[in-house]
Amino acid sequence: MWVSKNRRPEEKGSFESEFARYNLRSTQEKIALRAIELASPRLGGRALDAGCGNGFGLKVLNDLGFVASGFDASKKMVSEAKKNGFRVKHGLFQKIPFKEKFGFVLSVSALQWVSLPEMQLVVKEFWRVMAKPSLASIQLYAKSEEELFEYAKAFRSVGFSVKVTQDNYENAKKRKTYLVLKKE
Ligand SMILES: C[S@@+](CC[C@H](N)C(=O)[O-])C[C@H]1O[C@@H](n2cnc3c(N)ncnc32)[C@H](O)[C@@H]1O
Repeated sequence: MWVSKNRRPEEKGSFESEFARYNLRSTQEKIALRAIELASPRLGGRALDAGCGNGFGLKVLNDLGFVASGFDASKKMVSEAKKNGFRVKHGLFQKIPFKEKFGFVLSVSALQWVSLPEMQLVVKEFWRVMAKPSLASIQLYAKSEEELFEYAKAFRSVGFSVKVTQDNYENAKKRKTYLVLKKE
């Protein structure tokens, strides 16, 4: 079982200041594509990018033919995403700011900001906004393998089937972990 020694932005303070330091574009788009590949949803229809930041995942979803919407906790990110032409709302995983239901939900590098106790709310919100049937794919930076499985367990507790994928398992720097959720 691994435990990550890499410090994540959420442990250092502001995400926005960290974000400015890196050229995340191609990395974030590649992760979004890998997440979508793992879930292999039917392309097209309504998709939601949860914790969308300034819109890398939204761009990928739109390019694949989805009608994509997003939300993010940061007003600054929301305003940047809007400037980039995306349909985005300000809001939290804990209270997703959409009434409509989505056939596919994507979330990249964001869910680790939510603590495990708060996940009880978040998993209900995912269930509420996901159509029946539907899929979600979540890439997250858990602090340890044990924590990753706790996130998976939280989603299972409301009825999702959850598949955990770990790319580059042996390499702490390159390791990426994904949860694919299925609502049937
Ligand atoms: C590393 S960024 C990733 C953004 C985007 N998904 C991407 O791949 O570029 C993490 C994002 O999660 C958002 N976030 C953190 N906690 C959140 C919460 N509770 N609800 C919604 N968004 C949140 C942050 O505002 C930030 O934009």
